[in-house]
Amino acid sequence: AEIVHVVGARPNFVKAAPVVAALARRGHAQRVVHTGQHYDDRMSAVFFRELGLPRPDVDLGVGSGSHGEQTAALLIGLEREFAARSPAFVIVYGDVNSTLAAALVAAKLHIPVAHVEAGLRSFDWTMPEEVNRRLTDQLSRLLFATSPEAVGHLANEGVDVDRVHFVGNPMIDTLLANLDRFDPAAVRAAHELPERYVAATLHRPANVDDPEVAARLVARLHEVADTVDIVMPVHPRGRAAFLAAGLDRHPRVRLLDPLGYIEFVALVRGAAAVVTDSGGVQEETTMLGVPCLTLRPNTERPITITHGTNQLITEAELPASVAKVLADGRRRAADPGASDTPPLWDGRAGERIAAIVSAELVGPDGAAAA
Ligand code: UD1
Ligand code: UDP
Repeated sequence: AEIVHVVGARPNFVKAAPVVAALARRGHAQRVVHTGQHYDDRMSAVFFRELGLPRPDVDLGVGSGSHGEQTAALLIGLEREFAARSPAFVIVYGDVNSTLAAALVAAKLHIPVAHVEAGLRSFDWTMPEEVNRRLTDQLSRLLFATSPEAVGHLANEGVDVDRVHFVGNPMIDTLLANLDRFDPAAVRAAHELPERYVAATLHRPANVDDPEVAARLVARLHEVADTVDIVMPVHPRGRAAFLAAGLDRHPRVRLLDPLGYIEFVALVRGAAAVVTDSGGVQEETTMLGVPCLTLRPNTERPITITHGTNQLITEAELPASVAKVLADGRRRAADPGASDTPPLWDGRAGERIAAIVSAELVGPDGAAAA
């Protein structure tokens, strides 16, 4: 009985690595299906090399497109794949288009689905991720929650609570497993970066798709750069809009290509503050104790505000917010297990997920489940 992991986009790889490793330790037959949603080396292959993820057994090569085009290609490719291999279980991660497509195809083929990172809610239906995660949760047999409020959201939506397991956060497993490798001095030297800087990442459609919005953001980032250097590894989604708005035309703004995971987290670790709209980065800064300013009106990860360093800000608030966190100085890194750290963000989520999937597959007494 083969377990199939479906991954497609950058954050999926970071979440899947500890789950694949934990199931391998239990001796399960596994197959890693890469949809090809992300395909540049810097958005994809670098994570497999760095995180010890087994190379994908197949790459469906779906690539980019509108939501309809991309989702349609995902459905066709994944249906062929699942029909040919008849997996015993399909595991999906997060909230990207590959996640929903895999859950939908599997459900129609009567293959049980496990959703890692279930129950997060921004309550903002204009975000494609909110659509993806809500529907994926409805289609899943097993729902793995990374924070306690996610369990409540699922219960409110009528999901059978016996299917929901609060297991902690596999993205944080990966962070904690690699802590020794995140060397801020090395990333500064490799890219000739200043000692003190703000790290920025932006890729949400609401911030980068509309050229006028992107231009307003660039003006605010330039205000920030008048007082502190900004280092920004640029996601391909925002590149054209930010360059058209002249983001690089400031002596203290340094644009980089997307970084590999090890260099990126080192950059975050060494930053005086982070400006982002990424989901994963809100969580990583919480653990590293680096102030995080999230340029969004909402977050599906409120635990990073209550138990972490995160705050939501508007573009107009950006310069003053950066000035304030720089004046306040840095917090200490989170201590896994301490009461002010998100519960179960302790590096063992992958193991918990593997134990539950394993029991579902073979039954607690070792007998094969029907
Ligand atoms: C996707 C996810 C988003 C996630 C993000 C992580 C959806 C709907 N969105 O957004 O939730 O936060 O990944 O990074 O699934 N491109 C490249 N090279 C690549 C991949 C993409 O140049 O390797 C460019 C293409 O122009 C493409 C655009 O980026 O059209 C957007 O890619 P896509 O995968 O559709 O969505 P993301 O914005 O990356
Ligand atoms: N990340 C990376 N290189 C970068 C930017 C981000 O390795 O240049 C990592 C980051 O540390 C986190 C993940 O990619 O583990 C988050 O992905 P992203 O922000 O693209 O997606 P989101 O979390 O918003 O869905």
